[in-house]
Amino acid sequence: MKKNPLLGHDVISMRDFGRDEIRAILDRCKDFEKNKKPLLQGKVLANLFFEPSTRTRLSFDAAMKRLGGQTIGFADALSTSISKGESLWDTIRVAEGYCDVMVIRHPAEGSARLAAEATKLPVINGGDGSNQHPTQTLLDLYTLQKRTGRIEGLKIAFVGDLKYGRTVHSLIRSLSLFGAELWLVSPPSLKLPADFMDDLAESRTKHTEVDDLAAVPADVDVLYVTRIQKERFADPIEYERVRAHYQVTPATVERFGDRLTLMHPLPRVSELHAALDAHPGAAWFDQARNGVVVRETLLALVLGAA
Ligand code: CP
Repeated sequence: MKKNPLLGHDVISMRDFGRDEIRAILDRCKDFEKNKKPLLQGKVLANLFFEPSTRTRLSFDAAMKRLGGQTIGFADALSTSISKGESLWDTIRVAEGYCDVMVIRHPAEGSARLAAEATKLPVINGGDGSNQHPTQTLLDLYTLQKRTGRIEGLKIAFVGDLKYGRTVHSLIRSLSLFGAELWLVSPPSLKLPADFMDDLAESRTKHTEVDDLAAVPADVDVLYVTRIQKERFADPIEYERVRAHYQVTPATVERFGDRLTLMHPLPRVSELHAALDAHPGAAWFDQARNGVVVRETLLALVLGAA
């Protein structure tokens, strides 16, 4: 493998990352945690957020500033000339004159890939519709490695909105490279879409689809709970039907024991009880915190400073 395969590259989909590349990035994250330098002085990150975000936008902002760089951008498309009818393509062509690297979050699937085609600067996907959220996956894997000591051969149950949850789509793809065994727990209307199921079949990843969390064996290593993605539903009645389908509480997870790692990309609504914050396996605030070092590493790698 080349020394820095990410130099000048985009980070759009976990489909673009093989096992060795993921391992190399996670190793670099470990180095960054120990040894932080102002590697990005004089560089500017444009945070182009066409959809709401707390963690992704703020942690990219913090990551760039902690490495000595600066940030520009917006958190609301309505405050930009998109609201006057400007195209995404033109917005990216204009923004490239103001920065060295861009992060884009957008409601349309494929928008990050389109942005990457519009500019020669590195583009990082901060979430494109229901499709992909690659930096969330890298921070999830980093958190799993820190907590469980491994990312190979994990037994992991995904619970909730597997149809629209982009964090699930990115993470499932990557876990399939590391010999995971999966349980896919969702209401029938929110099952994992066919193209991601095809990936699992192609990689011969053992997986079981169920509707009821009670069908998941007690020896799983990880429960990865997700919010029902209200903003993706065309029909509000359909959302109401599934809104409260899963409510994971201390009683729900008792049978899994204290060795369970409990994950959630956040934000949470009603699917994950706040009392679970006290569970020894609760990882969500660590996931959010680890987002900074993972994003520092990615920014430094794509800008050739690592
Ligand atoms: N996990 C995540 O992407 O959170 P935000 O939507 O707040 O960025």
